[in-house]
Amino acid sequence: MSRLERMRQKMHQEKIDAYVVIRPENGRYMSGFTGGEATLYITAKKTFLLTDFRYIEQAKVQAPEFEILKTGNDHFESLAEIGQQAQRVGFEGDFITHANYEKLKNGFPEAELLSLPNLVSYLRSVKDQAEIETIRQAVKIADDAFDNVLKSIEIGQTEEEVGLDLEYSMRRAGASGGSFEFIVASGVRSALPHGTASSKKIHLGEFLTMDFGAVYQGYCSDITRTVFLGEPEDKHREVYEVVLAAQRAGIAAVAPGRTGKEVDAVARKIIEDAGYGDYFGHGLGHSVGLAIHEGPNLSMREERVLEPGMVITVEPGIYIPDWGGVRIEDIVLVTENGCEVLTQAPKEFIIFE
Ligand code: GLY
Ligand code: MN
Ligand code: MN
Repeated sequence: MSRLERMRQKMHQEKIDAYVVIRPENGRYMSGFTGGEATLYITAKKTFLLTDFRYIEQAKVQAPEFEILKTGNDHFESLAEIGQQAQRVGFEGDFITHANYEKLKNGFPEAELLSLPNLVSYLRSVKDQAEIETIRQAVKIADDAFDNVLKSIEIGQTEEEVGLDLEYSMRRAGASGGSFEFIVASGVRSALPHGTASSKKIHLGEFLTMDFGAVYQGYCSDITRTVFLGEPEDKHREVYEVVLAAQRAGIAAVAPGRTGKEVDAVARKIIEDAGYGDYFGHGLGHSVGLAIHEGPNLSMREERVLEPGMVITVEPGIYIPDWGGVRIEDIVLVTENGCEVLTQAPKEFIIFE
């Protein structure tokens, strides 16, 4: 079934006769338009893409299944003109601004408006073959960047310089950019789960956590590796091995039919049993695709069931304040029987002399 057919099936289930798409990655997924600034209006029979002068020609080429409507900057004012007949209109309540919601209400005074934020995200959660191949390439670009940075890293470099080397390597390999603001966190900063690269210099005797990813043809990758600079103490080795064991167990638990909650619990138990449960305060993973963070997640609250074709990270960590931390993150593809690990970068304890 095509994306539009699947979408219409969902709309039918939700008993809505129109749906408004504004989140850029959802617009791209449904229409093929990569320009970002478009609003889609989808009904059981028709498909409209509203955009302004700058994008008209691009939209015509990229979104052949959509009727392209030229608007001013205000797509919401134009929507009312095409949506006269609609009775129940769904929209992305998690993304619309309050001002645009007011315009939507004014434009559809007779219609019932329903916030249905997950309609397109649900379609996006199972990737097709072409999407999987693109993600494989995004993952490979990140793997190769890690390989390159291991060769170029020098004690005394700043975290920002390490981050720049990662980005340079990925851009040279065809990435359009990084998939988020990179985390390069050394020493006590490695205890910050989201310690973005700073001007701190890297020293011997420290963990160095690098969490980064590429955007390739619109699709994201996401990888974390933690290495040790110099001579580790026993506790450094122990914490690393606990995280690695949890990560491997989490990967082994990924399979269709399991909930995100069940997989999270398997990895979490290993960290808890080792006495570090209080230092693992985030979920085990999240899906990736056109966005860096998508659903379903692997987390204590995720009830959704994994399905073949989902692409998800497994990324446990232990973060001990004023000491340091370790996170290891791979991307896996859910298969018919379990999962395939897409990330190839080595994850045994790497000691950098
Ligand atoms: N750096 C974001 C993540 O790994 O989810
Ligand atoms: Mn990451
Ligand atoms: Mn991640």
